[in-house]
Amino acid sequence: MSEPVLKVENLRKEFGGLVAVKDVSFEVGPGEFVGLIGPNGCGKSTTFNCISGLLQQTSGKVAVFGEDASEMRPDEIQNLGFTRTFQHTRLWRQMTVIENLLVPPRQQFQPQPLKAILWPFTRPAEEARLARAYEVLDQLEVPHMAHNLASELSGGQSKLVDIGRSMMGDPQLLLLDEPVAGVAGPLALKIFNNLRKIVDETGISVLIIEHNMDFILRQGVDRIVVMKEGEILMVGTPDEVRSNRAVIEAYLGAVGDESEEGGEEE
Ligand SMILES: Nc1ncnc2c1ncn2[C@@H]1O[C@H](COP(=O)(O)OP(=O)(O)O)[C@@H](O)[C@H]1O
Ligand SMILES: [Mg+2]
Repeated sequence: MSEPVLKVENLRKEFGGLVAVKDVSFEVGPGEFVGLIGPNGCGKSTTFNCISGLLQQTSGKVAVFGEDASEMRPDEIQNLGFTRTFQHTRLWRQMTVIENLLVPPRQQFQPQPLKAILWPFTRPAEEARLARAYEVLDQLEVPHMAHNLASELSGGQSKLVDIGRSMMGDPQLLLLDEPVAGVAGPLALKIFNNLRKIVDETGISVLIIEHNMDFILRQGVDRIVVMKEGEILMVGTPDEVRSNRAVIEAYLGAVGDESEEGGEEE
């Protein structure tokens, strides 16, 4: 098997007396579309924060593209070809969609901000960035939104633009934190369909957090990592997860009729 693009080994994160992530291990392979699922508060975002270097883990190892990223800063990890989104989207409301795509993502590395202010003329690199921004909107099938103000967008459309921003740097590994939470059914399905297509066409790897089990089981992800109370309950294909007794017991009552996230519409 080819080398994983993300390898998490015995990752542990304690907040004082609270163990939010308990010795979690899993991998994401090249060109894989993987779901990370589990109830609210089970440690999904904390896992992302440790992987992306925003939190220092208590113990354990994270390797990105085969490099030990356990002690790296967020910008160093990003430079390996990794981007993430955050659970709570914040766009520049008074800027257009295309302008939002041209702003480097929050908490991530801006190479030469002073130079950009002192030398604001269009250069070939900036033209290429603009072309890339339009290409990203095409990939997400929303080219018509380019010149809308971010303040005019629905919550779901804002999430989509946030995903677009994360794709601007051509990452090889993309981590998305609940990109469809609160997004209406048809748009949530469209987001997953587009991500599947992007993974298949470009060969990038995507790890996506979702807390609605019923929804993720139907979205064509390759594998699902199931967390519960800081631990990994199982890792498997959607079919394996669907028929796993421990998962069924943990989610009894949730599978089959949960509709709050809007995955119910076709
Ligand atoms: N910065 C923090 N300080 C203290 N506790 C935290 C912090 N971040 C998360 N937690 C706690 O860790 C647990 C896991 O949270 P989180 O990773 O956000 O869960 P999820 O993303 O699965 O909903 C929760 O009990 C949460 O309250
Ligand atoms: Mg979370």
